[in-house]
Amino acid sequence: MKHFDYLVLGSGIAGLSFALKAAAHGRVAIVTKKNRAESNTNYAQGGIAAVTSKEDSFEMHVRDTLEAGAGLCREEVVRTIVQDGPARIAELIEFGMKFTERETVAGRELDLTKEGGHSKRRILHAKDVTGREIERALLAAIAAQPNIQIFENYFTIDLITTQKLGLVGPNHCVGAYVLDKKAGQVRTFSAKSVLLATGGCGKVYLYTTNPDIATGDGVAMAYRAGAPIANMEFVQFHPTCLYHPKAKSFLITEALRGEGAVLKTMDGAEFMEKYHPLKSLAPRDVVARAIDSEMKRSGADHVLLDITHKPARFIIDHFPNIHATCLRHGIDITVEPIPVVPAAHYQCGGVVTTVDGETEIAGLYAVGEVACTGLHGANRLASNSLLEALVCAHRAAEKILNSKTEPTAVEIPAWQSGHATNPDELVVISHNWDELRRLMWDYVGIVRTNKRLQRARTRIAMLQEEIRQYYWDFVVTSDLLELRNIATVAGLIVDCALERPESRGLHYNLDYPTPDPQWAQRDTVVRRSS
Ligand code: SIN
Repeated sequence: MKHFDYLVLGSGIAGLSFALKAAAHGRVAIVTKKNRAESNTNYAQGGIAAVTSKEDSFEMHVRDTLEAGAGLCREEVVRTIVQDGPARIAELIEFGMKFTERETVAGRELDLTKEGGHSKRRILHAKDVTGREIERALLAAIAAQPNIQIFENYFTIDLITTQKLGLVGPNHCVGAYVLDKKAGQVRTFSAKSVLLATGGCGKVYLYTTNPDIATGDGVAMAYRAGAPIANMEFVQFHPTCLYHPKAKSFLITEALRGEGAVLKTMDGAEFMEKYHPLKSLAPRDVVARAIDSEMKRSGADHVLLDITHKPARFIIDHFPNIHATCLRHGIDITVEPIPVVPAAHYQCGGVVTTVDGETEIAGLYAVGEVACTGLHGANRLASNSLLEALVCAHRAAEKILNSKTEPTAVEIPAWQSGHATNPDELVVISHNWDELRRLMWDYVGIVRTNKRLQRARTRIAMLQEEIRQYYWDFVVTSDLLELRNIATVAGLIVDCALERPESRGLHYNLDYPTPDPQWAQRDTVVRRSS
């Protein structure tokens, strides 16, 4: 049994920045299923949207966010997050973050780039490796904090709640059971407050820009613990993931289009003017659907993104990581277009929370992609997510530290593995993993229909039952736990999608091709029936 004041699950921007604040008030454990820098944050290229220039305003950022969110954002949440942004950015810089700067006549200032849906240049970035630089800075700050202990290769199996322990009264989260992967043992962590900062669920789909860790663990655990989950139908597909047999999940940042890159079909024709007046810089859902439709029409397996009209020096200076990675795959982006396809990128729904990260379960907080605060609505504005994580992590820390409620003291039993034996046929895990991800891609992708969604629901239910049996019969492994989580999250996406009889933002259903005004402002909320 390990006792801490604060238990943080996940080591991206939300978890690390929360831990730095909580450490001033108590002992913090950060639990992460791989190594400490392996998070979704680490792979963010584009940057953080925040109002830092005189030509910009909070009002404009709020308006762009609401417009992208297609009638489902919570305006008060949007305002809070946008207005808190500059203070949190200043703090991140104090922690050691180095954003890219540029020379001006007035001296050096933060360089701002542009992405789809933004009416102003407002994306702060570190070249095209913003997330990597954030992780570096926050981990360096954490290394100087004796109150924080990081547990690497520890996979959280489930949250421990008073309800699960059979106690009466309001449900309270008191810790988590965690698989120590190297020792093959399940450890029990207890804490006064637990923060879910586990990121999103891109791996639910066959093609994704996300790293392997993005298996929706936080949403699945919170759902099993009884927390409401909302708006999971809104999965954002990024229009431009590198298409190459050897390149796995490599994102081509939208900032490339922000700096002038243009989408073309295989014969070199521009096509975005047919779909939106903003052409290649139209909102992401429009661009992803346009690419999907062009690929279906022509039978091509990708489209092209062309920035060759810009000087080579400019391209290499602004996008060194993309340039080097493409070059390794034999593509010189300064002289030839980049083959790209859309891929699952961001989960806009999640565990229902306030803007302070509170969930419906006392003592359980959720921040970042795992949470649904109401900022993104039906479609996330590019680069708003790192901002949300930073602002909400700060607010969650403040909320917890100012809270007067004393947590319930409970006896937590050790993990029981019963009669579980070693798994007999690992092929069950790999087969179900592949089947789930392919069926989500084919039936619950960019364009949906009721029939496809129903088909997916039936198959997912069968897979869930098989996985459930496997989970009870055999000792847990991280592969089995991830499979169990993606199956849960896939089911939630389908359930939410079937509940919304309209097309809005990222959810496009051919059976209801337009938005229904009655569904504006209405979230799709699901919770486990106990
Ligand atoms: C990108 O760099 O295109 C991704 C940014 C984001 O998804 O917010």
